[in-house]
Amino acid sequence: EKGGYSTYMEKEINEQPQAVGDTLLGRTDEQGRLTLDELRIDEDKLRQVDRITIVACGTAAYAGMVAKYAIEHWTRIPVEVSLAHEFRYCDPIVSDRTLVVSISQSGETMDTLMAVKHARELGALTISVCNTHGSTIPRESDAVLYTHAGPEIAVASTKAFLAQITACYVLGLYLAQLRGGSYADDAQQVLTELHDIPGKITELLDGMERVREIARFMADTRSVLFLGRNVGYPVAMEGALKLKELAYIHAEGFAAGELKHGPIALIEPGQPVFIVVPGPSTPHGLHGKVVSNIQEIRARGARTLVIAEHGDTAVEPFADEIIRVPSTSPMLAPLLTVVPLQVFALELSSAKGLDVDQPRNLAKSVTVE
Ligand code: BG6
Repeated sequence: EKGGYSTYMEKEINEQPQAVGDTLLGRTDEQGRLTLDELRIDEDKLRQVDRITIVACGTAAYAGMVAKYAIEHWTRIPVEVSLAHEFRYCDPIVSDRTLVVSISQSGETMDTLMAVKHARELGALTISVCNTHGSTIPRESDAVLYTHAGPEIAVASTKAFLAQITACYVLGLYLAQLRGGSYADDAQQVLTELHDIPGKITELLDGMERVREIARFMADTRSVLFLGRNVGYPVAMEGALKLKELAYIHAEGFAAGELKHGPIALIEPGQPVFIVVPGPSTPHGLHGKVVSNIQEIRARGARTLVIAEHGDTAVEPFADEIIRVPSTSPMLAPLLTVVPLQVFALELSSAKGLDVDQPRNLAKSVTVE
């Protein structure tokens, strides 16, 4: 049942190309335009949306953070991400033009369900991004956009995360398409690139041996930091979460720009730091800014584990290790850059002899508030 793999998590990591591909499948017409009739929401109603709030917990909330950057960039609709349990009890500002998107693999997370119910009571339009057919959150929502990751058994989410990001991209690009004009043209171009992602994940998974080696050498490590910027920021936080969940190692993800405002004080000789580097084509010179961050922490003795696109030579002088990922458009990069971090956490956990699929104290779906 584990398909030849020794853990479900390893199997699920390797199923990610398919999880992304299947989540895209059947959602475009012959002209290559997105069709989301399955939502059964009047297009005009979606056109009137003037604000989006994403509610979720854990890994799903990091998918939501990635979605925020992408959807705002593609549609110019303001998007906010709230942890579901915080949203529910903070007197959220919601109108009938607010779209509340919940993200949940199980569809049963009580915190997320309560947030959705509350949003609906307040008059919001609610869409559930969910991996489990017939589960509670989709039933309690106005519409559902299913992720097609297949059953996820390992407690720590991997393929569902990639499928959630993909579904949110589809939703964002669809909203851009509905806006028309240059929004629609740009969306069309990104969609073409999105269809290339499954092949790129396969390519990436084939080259993970060095990441495994690094993880095995680090079995005694007590703290790991993760830096990222823009869409790389939630990837850094997800990398840290995976390491906490699976290997019980203290780990923190930071926005790279925040480094000088505090976290740099943590850097001492030998401190391992993963840096998720934006592609060189990322707007606003963010690539150069993150490369400077690597330089700064290396000068203070950090061990720099750099995740960068193929051909990005600027990182070379400051990297102790470079993990290469295929290049793609900046907003889509999380579907690639998170993969080595998943593999790293998995391998470190097994190197420590821990139960990868069922980490202590965690449950796959938490059905209490
Ligand atoms: C946590 C799980 O309790 O719930 C995480 O351990 C998961 O892996 C989170 O990301 C949210 O779960 P769901 O099913 O709502 O996506």
